[in-house]
Amino acid sequence: MSDKIVLTGIKPTGMPHLGNYVGALKPLVEMSRTNKTYMFIADLHALNTVHDAAVLRRHTYEIAAMLVALGLDLNNAILFRQSDIVEVAQLSTMLMNVTPKGLMNRAHSYKAAMDKNAAAGLDTDAGVNMGLYTYPILMTADILLYDADIVPVGADQKQHVEFARDIAGYFNNTYGLTFKMPEPVIGQDAGVIPGLDGRKMSKSYDNTIPLFCASNELKKKIMRIITDSKLPDEPKDPDTSTIFQLYKHFAQPDEIAALRQKFLAGGMGYGDAKKILFEKIDSVLAAPRAEYDRLMANTDELDKILDNGAARARIAAEKTYTRVRQAMLG
Ligand code: ADP
Ligand code: TRP
Repeated sequence: MSDKIVLTGIKPTGMPHLGNYVGALKPLVEMSRTNKTYMFIADLHALNTVHDAAVLRRHTYEIAAMLVALGLDLNNAILFRQSDIVEVAQLSTMLMNVTPKGLMNRAHSYKAAMDKNAAAGLDTDAGVNMGLYTYPILMTADILLYDADIVPVGADQKQHVEFARDIAGYFNNTYGLTFKMPEPVIGQDAGVIPGLDGRKMSKSYDNTIPLFCASNELKKKIMRIITDSKLPDEPKDPDTSTIFQLYKHFAQPDEIAALRQKFLAGGMGYGDAKKILFEKIDSVLAAPRAEYDRLMANTDELDKILDNGAARARIAAEKTYTRVRQAMLG
């Protein structure tokens, strides 16, 4: 066991894809075996885009079910809903008062929204709510409330963790040492997982394979992977093949070596390679998918897990919040 506290939040905005699984979820589940891990479903962060409570609730269950089904170690991992810990909203309000407005102006996500508006000839703040504008402050509150040492995030979230360090620094300078400095850990390069069209698998490119879906849907997706036009007899390059690149993340080393050989030797068509890939992914994900389906049909069980997580998270949250209150309000 490491003594570092790991913390991360996952926004409940729909079923993750295989790229998210390999690049983010799988390493997180592995980390939960060796570290005390706070893992919350960031429903408050989703509120700036999701305005339907029933949808948000369903997506929250989906993320919880998925993490449990993937084998999150619930002894070390404290899995909870962000909104169940009211201290996070209070801390966020307090942190606003040491956060320069200019820092928020520099946030990538806010700047991207402004650029998009400008390109469309709209007012730069059109459609920007304060949830989006102050998003990094709430995220800072998440990180500081649980005394996190390590915050594993995707590259797009690195700036937010740097802001958390900046804001912790402003606070500590003003009120004396109150917060630990968190470190961002950017997903160790598992390599970019390619999508159906060979570009990075991403929901923005509409080229994804969902982590959990029915076998026949998985098969249909895999059969749609774009390949070059090499004939079955011709030797093929595994290193530029989306099929092989995906296979590598699901198969055992001897299986990977065997498929590599088949690519190089020629004699195997892409259709057959896709079948091998489908069977591998389908079998690796069969047990977690069944557990996911079972949990989604038993949301009471998920509520129990999340309530239990919230009770454990609250212990740390109350401690930190008391420290902040004392520092700011005496
Ligand atoms: P998307 O590009 O679909 O919007 P996100 O940006 O929400 O995905 O990604 C969330 C996490 O999943 C990130 O931490 C990132 O590291 C990981 N991830 C996403 N797509 C891939 C990919 N194609 N290959 C590897 N990791 C990925
Ligand atoms: N903003 C993160 C995302 O969009 C989710 C998140 C919320 C988070 N709070 C966090 C991640 C705290 C790490 C730490 O993916």
